Amino acid sequence: KYTTVIIPAAGKGKRMGAQISKQYLEIGDKPIIVHTIEKFDQSLLIHEIIVVTSKEEMGYFKEEILSKYHFNTPIKIVAGGNERQESVYNGLKNISPKAEIILIHDGARPFISKEEIEKSIEGAKVYGACVLGVRVKDTIKICNEEGYVESTPRRESLWAVQTPQSFQTSIIMEAHRKAAEEHFLGTDDATLAERLGYPIKIIEGSYENIKITTPDDLTIGEAILRKSL
Ligand code: CTP
Ligand code: MG
Repeated sequence: KYTTVIIPAAGKGKRMGAQISKQYLEIGDKPIIVHTIEKFDQSLLIHEIIVVTSKEEMGYFKEEILSKYHFNTPIKIVAGGNERQESVYNGLKNISPKAEIILIHDGARPFISKEEIEKSIEGAKVYGACVLGVRVKDTIKICNEEGYVESTPRRESLWAVQTPQSFQTSIIMEAHRKAAEEHFLGTDDATLAERLGYPIKIIEGSYENIKITTPDDLTIGEAILRKSL
């Protein structure tokens, strides 16, 4: 089945606090976004890559990334929006009409593995919608505004979800279209399908599939990269 990955990379990286957007910072000898694109480029199951960059950074992306690194899979660049959800939706509006399976993967998650990409695609085919996630290691408490604990959910039922979040095309299209129409803003893509009643399968991933968010994550990222070399 024709499979497209949408890579949202239009964020500013405020929590990183660097001069340039975090996806262009290097881990090892390559920008984070290059590591991320390479993982999907190397998968034979991916037919199309859509990278969503901010309007202002499209030129930078073409000059500093596309003209310097060689990828084999067709890549399309699309302008993002102010919110991640808007960036993803802009990506969805530009998929190939042939796309049957859509993976959505953060540009800032460079340590996704080939096996996890394959499991995600398989999950979307079998279940319609799936997200990669890991069991939480800490106990999580729900607190009120005053900073007092209200309740403690059973740890066995808690998962920290990552990307890829993967879907049959019709499901994720409907989910994003309805969210946009109803001005619903979710923190991940699966939420938009959940609210329409679609079941979402959790696929167990790895703790190495971190999102590079703060400066500490660059140090952790260097260690993960060294381990995988
Ligand atoms: N993203 C996007 N469009 C936005 C915001 C985020 O495409 N308007 C992308 C980011 O580039 C990143 C992914 O969504 O690859 C996850 O977002 P996050 O880690 O929050 O990145 P930033 O928004 O850039 O970081 P921050 O929230 O610290 O500013
Ligand atoms: Mg953000």
